[in-house]
Amino acid sequence: MTFQIAKQETVSKAELYAKLQMQLRSLLEGEHDFIANAANFAALLYHSLPDVNWAGFYLHKEGELVLGPFQGNPACVRIAIGKGICGAAAEVRQTVVVENVNEFPGHIACDSASNSEIVVPLMKDQQLIGVLDLDSPSFARFDDDDAQGLHVLAEIFIQAVQSSNSSESQL
Ligand code: SME
Repeated sequence: MTFQIAKQETVSKAELYAKLQMQLRSLLEGEHDFIANAANFAALLYHSLPDVNWAGFYLHKEGELVLGPFQGNPACVRIAIGKGICGAAAEVRQTVVVENVNEFPGHIACDSASNSEIVVPLMKDQQLIGVLDLDSPSFARFDDDDAQGLHVLAEIFIQAVQSSNSSESQL
């Protein structure tokens, strides 16, 4: 799959994610604050990935997922582990890619415009710290290349906040 990112310029998904890796590293360089880095990461994804109407975080707090920094329409605040697509990914601690959210049992519809979704769990020291969630108005917008690309970006983010004291107080 390729994307038209500007007139007469087409990049492959692999090239786009490679560029995003560099941009994210640069955005997070020298900064360890969890909320600041999560907010910038969400904004980078929302404004760089085509055909995405929501990008952001749910953070694992006191046994449930609580809305974190994001870009897009206002969203539901609390999601139980095991509920919806976010809760499913959090429960199995694996990336979940859903081609048609309307066919996913228990899908939580925060934005009726969303038709497909990908949720990547965020793990730190074998502990679930939250999930990264992206929605698209298109069906089957996300595939294995997105899962891999977002996984690498999530690792860069986790490493950047690894030594953050402020992250501990946020989670
Ligand atoms: N659709 C998600 C809820 C979060 S929103 O998409 C922002 C779910 O089913 O978990």
